[in-house]
Amino acid sequence: MTDKMNAPAKSKTSKSETPIELLKQDHATVQSLFKKFAKVKDAKRKEKIVRTAIEELKIHMAVEEELFYPAVREEFSEDEMEELMDEAMEEHHVVKLLIQELDEMGPEDERFNAKFTVLAENIQHHIQEEESEIFPKVKRSDANSEEIGARMAEFKQDNEKMFRKAA
Ligand SMILES: [Fe+2]
Ligand SMILES: [Fe+2]
Repeated sequence: MTDKMNAPAKSKTSKSETPIELLKQDHATVQSLFKKFAKVKDAKRKEKIVRTAIEELKIHMAVEEELFYPAVREEFSEDEMEELMDEAMEEHHVVKLLIQELDEMGPEDERFNAKFTVLAENIQHHIQEEESEIFPKVKRSDANSEEIGARMAEFKQDNEKMFRKAA
């Protein structure tokens, strides 16, 4: 913690964080959107939450697939981690299918809310697996270095506009 405070200011990003710190923040962001969605009654507000959550998830999955997962695969050659990574990719795949359907739907569709609820359940399960099975193993490895964290933060910054526009 003190390291961060004494570190000289970096030019592009103000603070350096580890990949796991960054990913956990994303997880918390979508989890709070899921909670909000469950509470809010107004259809317009519900839809806005859905669209925001989808944008967040698209960026988050891209950063994991482009940078974090490959770094983990490089660090760990055991079958167990390979399996966890393959499973994570399949879970992303299912989430993307649901997102694709939601992208083509409006809140007037009677299945809109149900579909988003299922998406949220899938993500909750996926987050749980990442945080309880993958992150503890990765935590002390080079895949959790601040250098990779910085690349992830940069990737997010560079691609945010594209994902926000596409959403
Ligand atoms: Fe993931
Ligand atoms: Fe994640």
